[in-house]
Amino acid sequence: MRHVLGIGEIGLERAEAILALVPRMAEVRSRSVPKVAALRGRTVAMLFLEDSTRTRLSFDAAARALSADTMTFTASTSSMKKGESLRDTVETISALGPNALVVRHRTSGVPWQVAAWTEAAVVNAGDGAHEHPTQALLDAHTIREALATESLSGVRVGIVGDIRHSRVARSNVRLLRMLGASVVLVAPSPLQPPGVEGWGVDASSSLDDVIGGLDVLYLLRVQAERITGGAAPDAGEYARRFGLDHARVRRLRPGAIVMHPGPVNPGVESSVDLSRLPQSVVGRQVANGVPVRMAVLLDALAGAGAGMEEE
Ligand code: ASP
Ligand code: CP
Repeated sequence: MRHVLGIGEIGLERAEAILALVPRMAEVRSRSVPKVAALRGRTVAMLFLEDSTRTRLSFDAAARALSADTMTFTASTSSMKKGESLRDTVETISALGPNALVVRHRTSGVPWQVAAWTEAAVVNAGDGAHEHPTQALLDAHTIREALATESLSGVRVGIVGDIRHSRVARSNVRLLRMLGASVVLVAPSPLQPPGVEGWGVDASSSLDDVIGGLDVLYLLRVQAERITGGAAPDAGEYARRFGLDHARVRRLRPGAIVMHPGPVNPGVESSVDLSRLPQSVVGRQVANGVPVRMAVLLDALAGAGAGMEEE
């Protein structure tokens, strides 16, 4: 039983071990009965205290594909509405005996706190503007798949937009650097994070200056729900300076790919329909969420040696 909290704790060796499991998980998903017994008898509880579509559904699909039972907690219909604290909620769910707790919360650090209150393995499904490690793992897998390379050394990734409020950017920068990629963060200065000099990346305020040198153009959503004090950029101005449009698509390198973690603010990050753009791998990111999260659950609960026999 091992927690999956942040990329720093996971480290390069374990990240590579998780990524190495993904092709086996994808093979399971391609079977006529896409289900194996690897986690039979285990229970995975979903504790999402902030909204989610992709992460929640893909963790659920991943747990079921490994034959784990699932428990889904819905904050709006729970006793939290009667004032029950997060700690009491975690201890109550833990008393029901889950083996893993998948946690999303709007406040940075909550999964670490939850780990102190439960015997279960805690998997971070996104905490505040801090970390989203399973997104970074599925993105690394998607980049390797799309660029048809195991090594990311020499691969140039431009992460564009609201870096300051983005847990996706923080986890991706950590993992991509561990895997050998070079990263440039492109944002207007209010959306660059404080202390970016210590991140080991380049920073730019001009997408036009960097776009022609990228292998991966990674667009981020402007996370209005986390922007306080009138610091939100004007959508039109943002789209003009940092949005993807047809002119910028034409400046992409041959073979370059376009990514976005979703959800997309239409017309802001891109005026081009990302579901139809040939360079876009946004659909692959979503689809890869399931085998990558299968690998994460397996690593957390059973280890790489678990069998892949049909149920
Ligand atoms: N879905 C991602 C997250 O939860 C990215 C986003 O919301 O913009 O961090
Ligand atoms: N990418 C991502 O985390 O999406 P959701 O917020 O829909 O889970």
